[in-house]
Amino acid sequence: MKVLGIETSCDETAAAVVEDGRRLLSNVVASSVDLHTAYGGVVPEIAARSHLESILPVIDKALKNAFEANSSKPIANSPDNKLSANSYQLTARSDPWDQIDAIAVTRGPGLLGSLLIGVLTARTLAITKKKLLYGINHVEAHVYAAFLEEKQPGFPLLALVVSGGHTLLVLFKNNLDYSLLGETKDDAVGEAFDKVAKILGLPYPGGPSVAEAAKNGDPTSVKLPKAKLGSSHDFSFSGLKTAVLRKAQKMAGKDYTFPSHKLPKVLSASQKADLAASFQRTAAETLVDALVAATDELKPKSVVIAGGVAANQYLRKLASERVCPTPIYPDIKLCTDNAAMIAALGYYKATDGVKPDDPHKLAADPALSLKA
Ligand code: KG4
Ligand code: ZN
Repeated sequence: MKVLGIETSCDETAAAVVEDGRRLLSNVVASSVDLHTAYGGVVPEIAARSHLESILPVIDKALKNAFEANSSKPIANSPDNKLSANSYQLTARSDPWDQIDAIAVTRGPGLLGSLLIGVLTARTLAITKKKLLYGINHVEAHVYAAFLEEKQPGFPLLALVVSGGHTLLVLFKNNLDYSLLGETKDDAVGEAFDKVAKILGLPYPGGPSVAEAAKNGDPTSVKLPKAKLGSSHDFSFSGLKTAVLRKAQKMAGKDYTFPSHKLPKVLSASQKADLAASFQRTAAETLVDALVAATDELKPKSVVIAGGVAANQYLRKLASERVCPTPIYPDIKLCTDNAAMIAALGYYKATDGVKPDDPHKLAADPALSLKA
């Protein structure tokens, strides 16, 4: 079964074709991140407009790459298409749509204006091309990126989803059958990376730039707090972010009233590197401590770490050293937002007997939760 995935929840316009939930036939991502860098974060109106411009060319390219040989025509917004696999060679007259069995689209959570572009496009295509339609929870789909790897995760599966909007622990008893164990009570860990980057004057998105700066720093040089929320599986990262701000002010010889936007100018490169490395270590240890406690308690058959922050090499190394069973990570390119994970989850919904959504009615839900 071949599923076309569509993802537009934040600043990436993405489309992908996945066969049987695990074989990636194409994966196209057009990011508007460069347009947001000047503002230090995603501007919802710019993201929505960019989706509108990119969505049809991105879908077109995903279909072409999946079913036609030598189809590498470039499109706007520098799409990342390195993962594409041209496994099907059809005659020039074949319509790639004939090969598609279903469409899966992110319906939430995310930015409303962005979600609407993907959902309305998918609804229209489902009607005109007569395809089954599945609305997908973006956070749940992050976990399904791990099913696109060679080694298939077994159940029960403990998943840590760490992204710009979410930090949560979920236990999957089986496919699609999960319970939320804990989540962040304030900032997501990716959000903390982004905010710390801003304090240090590093470019958005903060995750990769903090990780890069941390390479030159001493991870044990600055003592930072790890939030403890009793015996729960919940997280908190806003205190850690504030602690970085206070240490940065102190290292710059200023008091707590010194404005954060002036810090990048007064901190030295080595102070920034030490703060980045110490923050990264503390954030990673907090996540790994939580995973160790949850695996000790629940004895899962497999552990998956997914979402944008799962691209972090320091976190991967620490988790692989300390967590048993050794975590499975999606390919780095499938950690950040993509449509392959949406298509993969769509396949499991379709084959598990989940009723398809009504293409005349499927609604975007910016606050869609995992509890629902
Ligand atoms: O999953 P994602 O692409 O979007 C959301 O669903 O939120 O995650 C984006 C987040 C951003 O906060 C970004 O800073 C973080 O993932 N991120 C990283 C790394 N790459 C991306 N955080 C730490 N280390 C990285 N290498
Ligand atoms: Zn995401």
